[in-house]
Amino acid sequence: MQAVRIHRFGGPEVMAIEEIDRPIPSANEVLIKVFAASVNPVDGKMREGKYPVVTEKDLPYVLGRDVSGQIAAAGDDVSSFLIGDEVFAFLSPEHGGYEEFVLARADEVAIMPKSLDAVGAAAVPLAGITAWQGLFDHGGLLQGQRVLIHGGAGGVGHLAIQFAKAKGAWVATTVSAADKEFVSDLGADQMIDYKSEKFENLIEPVDLVFDLIGGETQERSFNVVKPGGALISTLQEPDKARAAERDIRVGRYTAQPNGAQLQQIADLIDESKVKVVIASTFELREAAKAQAALKENHIRGKVVLKVVD
Ligand SMILES: NC(=O)c1ccc[n+]([C@@H]2O[C@H](COP(=O)([O-])OP(=O)(O)OC[C@H]3O[C@@H](n4cnc5c(N)ncnc54)[C@H](OP(=O)(O)O)[C@@H]3O)[C@@H](O)[C@H]2O)c1
Repeated sequence: MQAVRIHRFGGPEVMAIEEIDRPIPSANEVLIKVFAASVNPVDGKMREGKYPVVTEKDLPYVLGRDVSGQIAAAGDDVSSFLIGDEVFAFLSPEHGGYEEFVLARADEVAIMPKSLDAVGAAAVPLAGITAWQGLFDHGGLLQGQRVLIHGGAGGVGHLAIQFAKAKGAWVATTVSAADKEFVSDLGADQMIDYKSEKFENLIEPVDLVFDLIGGETQERSFNVVKPGGALISTLQEPDKARAAERDIRVGRYTAQPNGAQLQQIADLIDESKVKVVIASTFELREAAKAQAALKENHIRGKVVLKVVD
């Protein structure tokens, strides 16, 4: 089968499409015939050797963290899926998604939303679970509360806006001016242009800031969280001393694969409460071009690799 692998860390030139052996599932794993694989910012960090989970000893390494596809084989202990089931999954780091067949633990996998095609489904797992765990597991967001989402037009952000609205929360979000209408259509209640406006001057205090940007955006966010509220980041640990002074709960987390949560997300999509936006698609052999597009272009939604036609 074909896979996009790296043998050393570096720029896009270290990615090569290669023939490798098709893996065999162990007792609690399934083998997925991949239809499409999404491209996430972490893929570029792994390729550059800047993501601590993947080190020299893991090379050669197949990039990619989430896929849609079809169950091609299952281990002896797997009873939750049948051969031929159409599924999607956020993979553990030991298995890469930029390949024609991938192994996944059965508890990382969920049945694909019926209302999405393969490209749409591949776009969801990592971004969707990151949004879900940030808002609800770490952020504790409840119905009727107020949340500010930084980076609302990106892969994680555009899903986070819709999950928060489906929960019954009030949502503000920071985006580029050109994306205000886009996130308004997704349900955002207040849109702030991060380049020309200062969110801390424009919004009333919130229960939760969901930070997908970090840096000074995170630092300024302390000013808009209510006492007793939370500031949760996917990027860097917020200042704990400052948090204690203001009675704010803070945290930085790494999203974890979770098939049960993914199934809840699939249900919201099939109930038309969440739509998935695709920014662009590429062929598997264009993985380097796709990563460059995600890093350098203005992105609205998700970048996806089509592994089969
Ligand atoms: N910890 C974890 O488990 C985890 C999981 C997933 C993602 N992440 C991280 O979370 C971040 C977001 O991921 P993603 O997949 O959503 O990325 P993405 O698809 O690349 O989206 C980033 C978005 O942020 C916008 N943006 C850039 N600077 C901004 C600013 N100062 N204020 C507001 N918006 C801004 C961009 O808009 P413009 O194009 O208009 O600039 C773009 O829409 C990434 O850094 C990623 O590495 C971490």
